[in-house]
Amino acid sequence: MQHTMMLNTGAPMPLVGFGTYLIKEPEVCRSSVLTALKAGYRLIDTAQFYGNEEAVGQAIRESGVPREKLFITTKLWHTDAGDNKTRPAFEASLKRLGLDYVDLYLIHHPFGDVYGAWRVMEHLYHEGRARAIGLSNFYPDRLMDLILHFDVVPAVDQLETHIYHQRLDARELMARHKVQLMAWGPFSQGKTDLLNNTTLGKIASRHGKTPAQVALRFLVQQGITVIPKSDNEHRIRENIDLFDFALSDDDLAALQALDTKKSAGLTHDDPANVSRIVAL
Ligand SMILES: NC(=O)c1ccc[n+]([C@@H]2O[C@H](COP(=O)([O-])OP(=O)(O)OC[C@H]3O[C@@H](n4cnc5c(N)ncnc54)[C@H](OP(=O)(O)O)[C@@H]3O)[C@@H](O)[C@H]2O)c1
Repeated sequence: MQHTMMLNTGAPMPLVGFGTYLIKEPEVCRSSVLTALKAGYRLIDTAQFYGNEEAVGQAIRESGVPREKLFITTKLWHTDAGDNKTRPAFEASLKRLGLDYVDLYLIHHPFGDVYGAWRVMEHLYHEGRARAIGLSNFYPDRLMDLILHFDVVPAVDQLETHIYHQRLDARELMARHKVQLMAWGPFSQGKTDLLNNTTLGKIASRHGKTPAQVALRFLVQQGITVIPKSDNEHRIRENIDLFDFALSDDDLAALQALDTKKSAGLTHDDPANVSRIVAL
């Protein structure tokens, strides 16, 4: 099985990446990203909002992995969405990362002046400063709106996606428009009993793998990119060790039946949550 998929830009993107949300302490972030790069991860997901772009950049430089082998994603925070604000925010992210381009630049949330942001991001894409541009937390209606009003179709939409929230409706639309789903919170951020689920546990034992590995393999095997976060060396290695087994059709069906279609965290279409996120 391929460990990468092809974006609608024609560029390959790894199917397994490393998430860095809440790894705020610079030394922990630097050493976790370095461990991830040594373990074979090539996609690193960070964001302006995470406050760890500098530590990610430091780990990248220390790793010695050639830049062209890496796939670095960062995200624009809504306070910097807009015709006059997005380019300076992008340049500031690049500076903190110590890079002269990113592989993927995402609008973090569908809030604020996302149209102004996307206009600037289209320029950054054409200039090659962002090799691909995309969205995060844009549900099918917001994604469709953006596709209809602009030239560049987002390469990626990053959504909370896991066994308990499989996003079938979004996936159908995204497949039609060649927008790649990148699953954030593939373990539901530890907010549910997902990793203790009995069905998942039985499948994992049968394959001699851990529930976490099966939870990730379930997504990857369906062509969904995953970006699990860990700051533990053992789990960092475990989370990329997904390519020596395959789930059977019966395994997939059993796991598909666990979909609750419910978010474990904050949805982005609830007014109270919009207020909460905008106030962060
Ligand atoms: N676009 C967005 O709005 C958005 C929102 C949230 C997240 N994200 C991105 O998606 C990434 C992943 O999501 P997330 O970090 O929120 O949640 P997650 O990856 O679903 O879960 C992380 C939690 O799972 C634990 N864990 C990791 N590997 C494990 C394993 N093998 N077995 C058992 N537990 C394990 C981690 O603990 P340890 O660290 O102790 O291992 C941590 O508590 C983020 O880091 C971020 O890059 C994006």
